[in-house]
Formats: sequence, C-alpha cells, structure tokens
Amino acid sequence: MTDSPTPVVAVIVVAAGSGTRLGRSHPKAFVQLAGRTLLEHALRSVYSLPDPIQVIVVAPEDRVSEARAIAVDAAAAAAAAAAAASTDIVAGGATRQESVRRGLAVLHAGVEIVLVHDAARALTPAALFERVVAMVRDTNDGVIPGLAVVDTIKRIDATGTILGTVDRSELSAVQTPQGFPRALLVAAHDTVADEATDDAALVASAGHRVRVVTGDALAFKITTPHDLEAAELLLRAENSAPAVVMPRVGTGLDVHAFDDESELWLAGLFWPGERGLSGHSDGDVAVHAVCDALLGAAGLGDVGGIFGTTDARFAGAHGDVFLVETLRLVTQAGFGVGNVSLQIIGNRPRFAPRRAEAEALLAGLLHAPVNIAATTTDALGFTGRGEGIAATATALLVPLAAGDQPLGGRPVLSLDL
Ligand code: CTP
Ligand code: MG
Repeated sequence: MTDSPTPVVAVIVVAAGSGTRLGRSHPKAFVQLAGRTLLEHALRSVYSLPDPIQVIVVAPEDRVSEARAIAVDAAAAAAAAAAAASTDIVAGGATRQESVRRGLAVLHAGVEIVLVHDAARALTPAALFERVVAMVRDTNDGVIPGLAVVDTIKRIDATGTILGTVDRSELSAVQTPQGFPRALLVAAHDTVADEATDDAALVASAGHRVRVVTGDALAFKITTPHDLEAAELLLRAENSAPAVVMPRVGTGLDVHAFDDESELWLAGLFWPGERGLSGHSDGDVAVHAVCDALLGAAGLGDVGGIFGTTDARFAGAHGDVFLVETLRLVTQAGFGVGNVSLQIIGNRPRFAPRRAEAEALLAGLLHAPVNIAATTTDALGFTGRGEGIAATATALLVPLAAGDQPLGGRPVLSLDL
C-alpha cells in the first residue's frame, strides 16, 4: 500500500478476536454489518483522518490477507485522506493485550502518538479519533474516551444479593480509541505482565496519568447479537429518508403615507406619475413587508432592526437592495425561500396591469415564486380615504440540508452594504 511522509500518529486497530459472545462461525471483525465487515467500517473512519497516519491492523493469523484486502477497500472509500496513510497488517495473539503488543512491534520510527482501537467499535466517528489525538498532544498523558454511566449500579455477591449502590458520579464507561504518547504505551506493555482488557489499565498501573475525554455513543462495542442488530438499525436509519425538516413561516406588514414630494416605488417598480410614499428609503411598503416576512420566518428580527433608518447606506435605496441583502441573511441562517405571497392594499396605483412585471422582478431577486394580490378597502379606513398604501406578506422558508447548494445551485448575490 502507499507509503506516507513519516506519520507522527499511528492507529492500531485490533481485530484478532474470535467474537465468542457474538456467536458467529467466523471472527467478529469479519462479520458483515450493512454490507461491509465490521473491520471495514472501523477502518473507514480511521482512513478519513486528516493527518498522515500509520494504520496497523491486527488480524487473526489465518485472515491477514483478507484483512489487507479490506484495508485496501476502506482506504479507497476515503480516497483523498487515505493517500496520506501507510498500512501494515500483522497477525494477532491469544489475548487482546498480546494483539496490541504485536501491533506496537511494527510502529514506524517517526511515530510519537499511538491510538489503540477495537475493530468491534465499528461505528466510531473520525471526530473521536481527532479529539483523542488533540488531547494527547496537549497533555502528553494517556487519553481515553468515556461516557457517564446512566444506570444505577449495584454491587452484588455471588447469590445476587445487593451489597450496596455504587456512586455513579465517579464512574465512566470507557471506549476506544485510547491514545498515548508512544513511549508510555510501549513501556507499559513491556513492563506490566498482568492481563488487562484495555490499554489505559496497563498505562495507569505503570504509574502514568490517563485522562478521560467525552466519548461518543456511536463508539459502542459490538459484542452481542443484539449490539449487531442495533448497529444495523442505526445505519439503516442514517441511510433512509432524511430527517423531517420543518419549514418556517413568517409574516410582514408595512404602511406608508402618501407624500406629494416623492416618486412612487412599489413592489420594486417605479410608477411614473403616481403619488409617492413617505419613508427613509424609497417607501416601498410591498418590499418592506416581504423583507419582514422573510426575516421573521428566519428568526432574524425585522426590517427596522436590520436596515436602521439612521443608516445612511439605505437612504433612498430601492427594493432590490433590501431584498438581496435579506436573502443573503436568510441563506446565511440556513434557509432557502419556498414562496412569498404579497398583498397590496390601497386605492392607487391600479396594480393589475403591472402585476406580472412586479412578480417576475421579485421572484427573480428571491429565486422563488412570488404572488402579488392587490385590493382596495371599499373606501374604508386610511387606505380607503386615500391617505397611504399598506402591504402584508407571508413567506415560507425551507431549511437547507447540509451541503445543499442554496437556490438550486445559483450563487447567492452578495451586496457590499
Ligand atoms: N482482540 C484481538 N485479539 C484478541 C482478542 C481480542 O485483537 N486475542 C480484539 C477484538 O478483535 C476486538 C477488540 O479486541 O476488536 C475488543 O475485544 P472483544 O470485543 O472482547 O472481542 P472478542 O474478544 O473478539 O469477542 P469475545 O470476547 O466475545 O470473544
Ligand atoms: Mg474478548
């Protein structure tokens, strides 16, 4: 396999156990989970680590070449990152400890940090490896992931009689990968003769400090048939339909009085010969209502808060400036626009002749359908008396999934406001 520029981190993946408690005819690491072996699942996380690493797979003696083929597949699946990895496959021993020792024997010269990981913790995310490596680097101590114990734990005697309740605040259910400065781990394996079920126990009994970092529920060890079933279900859930994403709705309302000194800008259009509206910007009530609806749906406040009337940059600005900036904020907050429904309320201008033009303009700016209705109020109220124009809008936003191109792949316009 590929040789890397001297990795500083090595990951020993122990996969040489028989898997007695799983009860299959072949060793546990070679049992299939959702179409791949447990070993391949475990290695995919390892190969996706960003740093160059030496990967050491410890396999049952009669499965070394099978393990090599699995490692090749796992590395290929993580193509880019795996280019920076080197891989060794070695035969394991009768105990986990002996298997780890055989892995340690092939460490490259430049390796300074060693992680030991159970292939049986097949779903462990790469982020957990990174967390452990970072903490070993920071502290120079042993570092192992652990989770708080949630069950009440009893001490019992051989007959099952309760002797007492253990204070669970002092307990941590520990996992792998367990990381150590190379010298500590190698020395502990060389000097401690007692068998231990993990490497932290060896390093601690050699007198060194081992710390616990927060583990990950996905790093659970597949030990029993039930664990394998749980892992299958987790992967199936992950690969099936995406989680339901809740759309968000917002409403907006704006009113401006007629002002004979101003030109009329409404729904983004200039209306020559019509009475204008008062306002700090161009007084476009329709656009302001739409912005409020969009900002409200995204939970970003309102037009007044974002485009303050004291802000000289927006004095006299037209609707496109407000809409483009609002869309940028909404997209940044993780939403795409589903649709917008706008209603304009007033006696003048007669909106119908330019309705399609206004809809096309606003839809183009928002990259989403916009419908515009217009109504009078039957001579009632301030709009009926011809004192001004009101507008209301409703906007639907749809959360963008991670990695989604906002706006169907079109770049979001960014205004330097
Ligand atoms: N392991 C190993 N060499 C051994 C024993 C265990 O490399 N002689 C590895 C296993 O392959 C596993 C990890 O150590 O990835 C954790 O061990 P465990 O879950 O106990 O696996 P098994 O020993 O294979 O299972 P069991 O105890 O049920 O037989
Ligand atoms: Mg075992």
